[in-house]
Amino acid sequence: MLTMQNIKTHYFFTDSDALLLRELRPMAEGHQDRMVDEFYDYLLGIPETATLLKDSVTLQHLKETLKKWFIDLFSGTYDNQYLLTLQRVGLAHVRVGLNAHFVNAAMNVVRRFVIELLQEHYPNIQERRKFRNAAEKIIDINLDILSASYQEEELKKVFLSRSLESKLIKAAERFTYGLNLILVIALAGVSLGVVALFVWDILHIFRGDVEKGILGALGTLLIIWMMIELMDNEIKTLKGGKFNILVFIGVIIVALIREILISTLRHDMLETQIFLAGTLLILGIVYFLVSKSQQERT
Ligand code: HEM
Repeated sequence: MLTMQNIKTHYFFTDSDALLLRELRPMAEGHQDRMVDEFYDYLLGIPETATLLKDSVTLQHLKETLKKWFIDLFSGTYDNQYLLTLQRVGLAHVRVGLNAHFVNAAMNVVRRFVIELLQEHYPNIQERRKFRNAAEKIIDINLDILSASYQEEELKKVFLSRSLESKLIKAAERFTYGLNLILVIALAGVSLGVVALFVWDILHIFRGDVEKGILGALGTLLIIWMMIELMDNEIKTLKGGKFNILVFIGVIIVALIREILISTLRHDMLETQIFLAGTLLILGIVYFLVSKSQQERT
């Protein structure tokens, strides 16, 4: 946080500059009404600023506050209290939604007014130059402090949106983590069911239905194998790894192979078997294409 002393040092503003400005005070007081009229005539001529000033009561009040600001420009005292007052003025502009551009443009009006006044009052160029230098410095310092309010407000907005963004991302990450955890638990439950199915298929063999038992058990084993792959994939995702779509296509393929085995045993219609084989072929092609594109990327 800059102090008024820091700011003055950065602008090479010295005590003699302060004394020179103090010397100009009577001149400023004598022309304050003209300066305020010119300032507001200028702002009333711009539609964007005129709308902010449409209320005549407010305008009268603003003229008074601007007069005070103008006289204070030549007070000769530029301490931290002065800095605070200017910061308050800056914030008042940010609050009413005034574009910073107009503050810069209005300050240019003030600058030109002061330079013209100096030309009128100090015909000697050497004398005028030292007053002008001091006046330019204090005007620049004022503009700096008024503009800083805008930058600070912008920064606040950026920090607010950043922290909101990161909170949202964290919440979404936790939610996805929770979902993945539920998925792993569900997969473990389903795997137990598939193991039971395998036992059931083996029982068929002992009951004499060897063909059905062997083919069924083979299909179920394929599913158990894919379940392991699925869970492994999910655990990797939980540990921060990448989601692998191939595993899911593989699961569908295995489920389809099992269905084909059962369909053969059931002696299903030829159309059904052709449909299953066709679907298997398409899935096989998809699997091949996806794994090829994954290999190309790595
Ligand atoms: C050199 C540039 C400017 C200076 C030095 C200046 C000065 C001031 C001052 C001293 C105040 C009183 C702040 C307070 O209540 O503490 C003020 C308020 C205000 N100024 Fe300016 N002003 C400038 C530019 C502008 C411009 C370009 C507009 C455009 C319309 C504007 C509109 C206003 C308004 C609407 C308020 C009242 C804010 C409120 O309701 O709190 N000012 N200004």
